[in-house]
Amino acid sequence: MPVLISSTEATPKGNVPANESVGIDDLAVYVPRLFLPLAGEFSSNRGIDPGKLVKGIGIDRMAVVDAHEDAASMAAMSLLELMRRNRLCPEDIGKVYVGTESAPDEAKALGTYVIGMLEQIYGRGSFQEASTVEFKAACIGTTFALESQSYWLAGEEEGKVGVIIASDVAKYPLFSAGEYTQGAGSVALLMKKNPRLLALEQIYGTFTRDENDFFRPMGCTTAVVNGKHSNQCYLDAMQGAFDSFAGKAKRKGVITPGTGESVTDFADHLLFHIPYPRMVEYASAAIFRHDWRESRRSTGIERELGPEPVAREFDDPQKYQAAEADYARRFSRSQEFLQAFAAKVRDTAILSRQIGNIYTGSIYLGLASLLEMQKIHAGQRLCFGAYGSGCSALFFSAIAQAGVESVPLRGLMQRLEERKQISLQDYELLHEGKKKESVLAPNGEFALVGIDEQGYRHYEYVKAMDMRASKR
Ligand code: CAA
Repeated sequence: MPVLISSTEATPKGNVPANESVGIDDLAVYVPRLFLPLAGEFSSNRGIDPGKLVKGIGIDRMAVVDAHEDAASMAAMSLLELMRRNRLCPEDIGKVYVGTESAPDEAKALGTYVIGMLEQIYGRGSFQEASTVEFKAACIGTTFALESQSYWLAGEEEGKVGVIIASDVAKYPLFSAGEYTQGAGSVALLMKKNPRLLALEQIYGTFTRDENDFFRPMGCTTAVVNGKHSNQCYLDAMQGAFDSFAGKAKRKGVITPGTGESVTDFADHLLFHIPYPRMVEYASAAIFRHDWRESRRSTGIERELGPEPVAREFDDPQKYQAAEADYARRFSRSQEFLQAFAAKVRDTAILSRQIGNIYTGSIYLGLASLLEMQKIHAGQRLCFGAYGSGCSALFFSAIAQAGVESVPLRGLMQRLEERKQISLQDYELLHEGKKKESVLAPNGEFALVGIDEQGYRHYEYVKAMDMRASKR
């Protein structure tokens, strides 16, 4: 039987009737044990000012997968931790949805490899009644999985829970401008009725458009990216999804701004997709600026910054673009913005600074950051802005439940401190698949142990080494 811990607290605000909610009950994060600091050997070899990487981009350390790791093994690790933390049995789980854009197979669902690995621990056939499907939509796949699973869960009548796993290795060519925005990791979400952490308000604002900002044609191991264009696509899509969300939330009477109020006034935390921490600054500046235009804040902002540039008042489009970029820069330094950013956004990027981009799980690393820092309190509204290149955005909201303050922490900061720093040479060999031996031998983890002549991948659970035995 599933371990169902129901929240008996009535929801203090929002669109979530007590005892009928669905949402996130817990999460587990897996990060590889290797990292490369961006300041030091990497920055000097690439001829980049370390200040640009650490401040301009916002990443201190990139997580690096070892020779025995990939998106499937990392997904199995986060699911194993989620199951152990919650004393879940495989029979409790109705669906295992996986969001990934770095799956090792073009046809076989990554979740089947994950189930194969977990069955080494829980017994062969133990997951056979769980369905698994892979959601590929660049960095937004996991969020579409969450939306889809929330509808399934609302109608679920057998007491099953759902699992959603994000797992990715963010990989760009060596020496490219994308290289310092890599990373790797997995986040597993436990989805339940009457969840302990977050009840979804079931309002999803969407935006989709065909773009060439970032993609990975068949057979390529690294992404093709048009960097600056990808930033702009992200911002355009986020604004579109935000407007869609705001319209739906107002029509449903869930968010009802009074005179001078704006939609973001009703959010206590804003979590955005985090390809690199500076991007959440750009995203939140764009959303706050857009949302505050008709609000009481606009007077103070105009007093501080002067009027916004208006396209029709410029003969030359380039001059308009320059004026617009200048205004955006000044807005992101304004008192109103800095206060809102510090209060509602900044802390979501804490883990990403130490890990880098994990593509579709990055936004949930933002959630893990807030949870580990105990920044979320019962009754608060969290708004999520997910983005996937290609491109789509999804903006949705959830209300923090009473359990948010009692679910055990995960010790993530400590675990990140215990990782091993690797040399630039080892990083490059691992990146190019030329390092056959693991830097750290698998220890209490799932490991890729071989790929057979047909291309099928073999994984094994390698038990934790008995340190006393190894010393003898
Ligand atoms: N000290 C401090 N800051 C410095 C500096 C220094 N010495 N030198 C430069 N900077 C600042 C710059 O001023 C800039 O900040 P502002 O925007 O505030 O001016 C910042 O560092 C970045 O510098 P650049 O604009 O020169 O950036 P870049 O040319 O290195 O490219 C990038 C950055 C486009 C993100 C590139 O790394 C890239 O292509 N990454 C992969 C694509 C990506 O992550 N896109 C994000 C949107 S798409 C998405 O979200 C999906 C996904 O996950 C991939």
